[in-house]
Amino acid sequence: MHHLNKPASGIARLAALVLAAAMPAVPLNALAQHAHGNLTAIAELEAKSGSAVEGKLTFHEMPGKGVHIEGRVSGLTPGKHGFHIHTNGNCDSPDGMSGGGHFAPTGGRHGAPTDKERHPGDLGNIVANAEGVADVDVMAHGLTITLMGKNSIGERSIVIHAKEDDFSDPAGNSGARVACGYIDLVELHMRM
Ligand code: CU
Ligand code: ZN
Repeated sequence: MHHLNKPASGIARLAALVLAAAMPAVPLNALAQHAHGNLTAIAELEAKSGSAVEGKLTFHEMPGKGVHIEGRVSGLTPGKHGFHIHTNGNCDSPDGMSGGGHFAPTGGRHGAPTDKERHPGDLGNIVANAEGVADVDVMAHGLTITLMGKNSIGERSIVIHAKEDDFSDPAGNSGARVACGYIDLVELHMRM
């Protein structure tokens, strides 16, 4: 004799109803969106290390290609600036060090975006013009912005450095962190 078909007690049934009411259908849509790799994330840059850098970057996942990063960054010194995905989604510290190290879930050496051996978070350099403005248009390979999974950049940080990334191990020698932005999975949050 088993009890699978035994009716739930009044309290258990009430609890089930309350739970069902508290659980909106929306996260399922968000998950479906996620499964189709159609997520968008945004990072608002915060000036760090005494800089006046500002800007906003958007991240669009392109199925089978990677993550397309676009936006405009201003307040830079003219020339090249290393930029990377860093592990921690935390830009609280004035020097940006709260972002942690380069996003590298399986370790390995630092490199250029085109190198076979590199950290997935190694995005190369952005280039600021004489006015200190950099237009960013980068396809980042080997990354996703899915909520879960070891290569997800969602809820991590993107960091821009004072100097050029020379692609040397362990971190490209690109100096102070002049901007840090939390990578916010906006679409997902909006739907929740
Ligand atoms: Cu960095
Ligand atoms: Zn690196």
